[in-house]
Amino acid sequence: MHAAVVTSFDTPPRYLEHPEPVARSKGEVVVEVLAAGLHPRVRSQANGSHYTSTDEPPLVPGIDGVVRDPTGRLRYTVLDDTALGTMAERTVIDLDRSVVLPKGIDPVQIAAAMNPAMSAWIALRRRVDFRRRQRVLILGATGNAGRMAIQVAKRLGASQVIAAGRNPARLAELAGLGADQSCTLDELAEAADVDVVIDCVWGQPTARAMADILTARRDRGAPLTWIEMGSVAGPEAPIPSAALRSARLQIVGSGIGSVPGRDFVKELPKLASAVADGGFDVRARAVPLVEVQHAWTAPAGTSERIVVVPEQG
Ligand SMILES: NC(=O)c1ccc[n+]([C@@H]2O[C@H](COP(=O)([O-])OP(=O)(O)OC[C@H]3O[C@@H](n4cnc5c(N)ncnc54)[C@H](OP(=O)(O)O)[C@@H]3O)[C@@H](O)[C@H]2O)c1
Repeated sequence: MHAAVVTSFDTPPRYLEHPEPVARSKGEVVVEVLAAGLHPRVRSQANGSHYTSTDEPPLVPGIDGVVRDPTGRLRYTVLDDTALGTMAERTVIDLDRSVVLPKGIDPVQIAAAMNPAMSAWIALRRRVDFRRRQRVLILGATGNAGRMAIQVAKRLGASQVIAAGRNPARLAELAGLGADQSCTLDELAEAADVDVVIDCVWGQPTARAMADILTARRDRGAPLTWIEMGSVAGPEAPIPSAALRSARLQIVGSGIGSVPGRDFVKELPKLASAVADGGFDVRARAVPLVEVQHAWTAPAGTSERIVVVPEQG
């Protein structure tokens, strides 16, 4: 079969011949892959920088996707850390880490949406005690995870969602997704009185944002839960000790490890059916597997999520 193969962490994956997958334990099956998202997590798997990555090249990237099982049913699946991911014509899945999808769904839409939607969905449902009518600020709201976080927070009952990012033109589009207000990362004082921050950015911008928000808060005794979800601006943020002492701030992370794998899996059916029902605005661009190397290195430009689509036949 063919697959996207990483032969070195320094170069993008290439479309190459790869040995056929083999199911090795009970519950595992070989499936045809219909669509696999090129998420930031997949890029970090392919360049060896993700905190959960242990595999060495050669490896096939891809952490999730829509597959056809041996009975012909379509499933959304998430993979454990593995050297054989979903960016291949066929792969091996654990049936317990998958959910059967309704008939007639668009595999590309599901593959594009599930990972970014899962981030805020899991964070608000499994990581913090989020309650209806709370106010939510999203840092990095113009990306896929941020755009989904707006929609997830609204769906879960947030009374106000403020979208913050660095690109005013992209921020202007977010009212259409349900954002009540938007601001740049330099205007966060306007968004200081929220209950929850969903942070996809981290790095220096987060350190600045935290200082601006805490300084401008009308009531520093009011609880503020800051959920670290992504780190597009850098893996480290210099948080001053005063930030934690001068306000009722709690910083938590949400991702693989801080949320047990079984909790992710439990949330799959509800989220998959919400996405399949058209409950989220999804931007996806399908790219044939044969073009994976080009897709990997193409400039980002838009918020469309690239979805790699193997040819079946
Ligand atoms: N913990 C989880 O469960 C989970 C799940 C999914 C994703 N994530 C993480 O969330 C993060 C975002 O993922 P995504 O799918 O939204 O990626 P994405 O679609 O590529 O979007 C990236 C976003 O980051 C912004 N950005 C990039 N560099 C920045 C900088 N230096 N300062 C401020 N903003 C910057 C971009 O802004 P512009 O629009 O201005 O370019 C864009 O909004 C990644 O770190 C990803 O690994 C975590």
